[in-house]
Amino acid sequence: MNSMKEVYGSGWAAWWRKHSIALQIGTTISCNIAYLADAGHTRKAVTLSMILLGGATLYCFFSRRRKINARDLIVITGCNSGLGYSLAMHCRAKGAMVLAGVREIPTAPNSNAVETLKNKGVIVYQVDITNEQSVRDFRHKVIELLEERQLVLRALVNNAGVMVFGEFEWQTQKLAECQVNVNLLGTMRITRELMPILRENHSRVIVISSHCANESLPGISIYGATKAALLAWTTSLRVEVGKYGVEVVSFIPGGFVLQSNIMKRQRLHFDEMRRHMSEEAKQFYGNYFTRYTEYFSMPSLTENRDNVKISDPTIYETFDNALLNVYPSAVYRCESWRYFFYRILFKSTPISMRDRLVQRFVVTPSWKASEK
Ligand SMILES: NC(=O)c1ccc[n+]([C@@H]2O[C@H](COP(=O)([O-])OP(=O)(O)OC[C@H]3O[C@@H](n4cnc5c(N)ncnc54)[C@H](OP(=O)(O)O)[C@@H]3O)[C@@H](O)[C@H]2O)c1
Repeated sequence: MNSMKEVYGSGWAAWWRKHSIALQIGTTISCNIAYLADAGHTRKAVTLSMILLGGATLYCFFSRRRKINARDLIVITGCNSGLGYSLAMHCRAKGAMVLAGVREIPTAPNSNAVETLKNKGVIVYQVDITNEQSVRDFRHKVIELLEERQLVLRALVNNAGVMVFGEFEWQTQKLAECQVNVNLLGTMRITRELMPILRENHSRVIVISSHCANESLPGISIYGATKAALLAWTTSLRVEVGKYGVEVVSFIPGGFVLQSNIMKRQRLHFDEMRRHMSEEAKQFYGNYFTRYTEYFSMPSLTENRDNVKISDPTIYETFDNALLNVYPSAVYRCESWRYFFYRILFKSTPISMRDRLVQRFVVTPSWKASEK
């Protein structure tokens, strides 16, 4: 099993990452209160202290976490690579029993994420969330585990997902349906199938979302549409099943394309687009399509990363809040300052400026009409 140190880095570093902002704010406020008291504004200093103390107490109360124990079962889909693989390892390291769903169990032994997961004590089971029978079998596996090992289903993490880069007109119906079937309908299918168990165990459903759910970007319009639809679904579901004791949260993990397999099949997707492109479209898009495909087929983007564990500790820290907060928020978000900055600008600027900012943000090959 991974030690906490492996997951978060050294104990002191993890402690500092978690508490440094609170310490800085606390120190600044204490200095201000001391200054007020020193300047003779004792009443103001006392009132301010009381308000801040009250605020801090409320914050601590509402951000309390439950503990994980060995009888907790966490079910995660899409654990062959990327986030699913990393979260499965992380939850196991925290001491939970983990059932990792993988779309396909690779046949070659000792060469893949599945072997690594199993070696860490994660239970791996095949599940294709687009296939009804496969999802039904998976439910039986969950029931079997709960009964045999006397476990409690703590959470279902709906992580499995696919993303295809390419302008909307290039993407074939097959590529569009694949994204809708996995990201949206597949997530709904497995959640529906497990709902009786989720209700019985008062479990939490964590839906892996994306910044695209709120700010859909050019080049991934269909993927963005699936994530936006998931967000709408999650928002309704949270209220629907909340009254039965099932909590539903969205988790936006930020960007980690270079530590996942989400772009692995992009070359095949471009081949599919090329094969089905009309002569008129080929003429129209000309060299732009070629430059676009070359850009998104770069080996650094598309190489296989089966056994790569995401290194960003804030993803795990934020996920822990999504999993363990006694009073969960609707959305948990990880983002860099760049993401944060652009997100605020996208929301607050007029549409013409917003669209130009979006193009600046995504940095894709640019369209030149002269290339037609
Ligand atoms: N990468 C990012 O920067 C990023 C950012 C925001 C959100 N996300 C979200 O994070 C989640 C994980 O993405 P990732 O980047 O970790 O990608 P990934 O490495 O490709 O992982 C996705 C997993 O989903 C599995 N999967 C695909 N179709 C499936 C199906 N029909 N049934 C069951 N499993 C299926 C894949 O299995 P196979 O490999 O066998 O197909 C793979 O294990 C996705 O929901 C994605 O939208 C990713």
